[in-house]
Amino acid sequence: MNTIKMLLLSTITCAPLLFTGSVEAKQAYEFKNGELTRPTGYREWVYVGTPVTPNDMNNGKAAFPEHHNVYIDPKSWAHWKKTGKFRDGTILIKELVSVGSKAAVSGQGYFQGEFIGLEATIKSKADFPNEPGNWAYFSFSGEGHKTLTKTAKAFPSAACNGCHLVSAADDFVFTQYYPVLSAGKGTGKNATGGHLNDLKNSYVEPGAK
Ligand code: HEC
Repeated sequence: MNTIKMLLLSTITCAPLLFTGSVEAKQAYEFKNGELTRPTGYREWVYVGTPVTPNDMNNGKAAFPEHHNVYIDPKSWAHWKKTGKFRDGTILIKELVSVGSKAAVSGQGYFQGEFIGLEATIKSKADFPNEPGNWAYFSFSGEGHKTLTKTAKAFPSAACNGCHLVSAADDFVFTQYYPVLSAGKGTGKNATGGHLNDLKNSYVEPGAK
């Protein structure tokens, strides 16, 4: 074996040892020099719900247009279904999607169109010691909802935290609008879906005319 081959081999065998720290990273995000790097891969996280604030029900300009697909990182989901709490290091992503069509063969409605923005919230005592509840809020949505920025600075607390503090059902998170989170709170295996027969809802089928 020549020297180059030996060198290559030793690098390959040592690599897993050298990088265990980053592979086993505790947080699903990177926050450095006061900026959050735009998270990637979140569509592989756990999907918790889609609130809709369509422009046409908000004077043509919803604060967060229009569908909001919300995801939580898998470690924080595991912690949530076990304890019913958001762990330090939780990140939730809110991906904005336009209303593409208002009619389909299934009926009238709001159907998802194009991706138009990306927001995030993170709970971290270490990174955001002075934010209320240690939650910080970010937006990667560019001008006119045409582009995404690579990094984002946290909004001032007054812009976002207040509303989340006062009106969100759990900690600073609007779990009342995410049935996956509200039904799964501290319920272990049942949080994962498909295990219960009783849907435990108050839905009433529209009566026959
Ligand atoms: C007027 C109240 C209000 C303000 C101000 C507000 N939000 Fe929210 N936010 C909500 C509501 C209600 C939801 C859930 C329903 C929805 O998405 O429409 C939500 C959901 C979110 C979520 C998904 C996770 C969660 O906590 O439920 C993110 C991320 C988010 N907002 C980011 C922001 C950012 C960034 C700002 C500041 C620019 C902000 N919000 C300001 C009311 C608010």
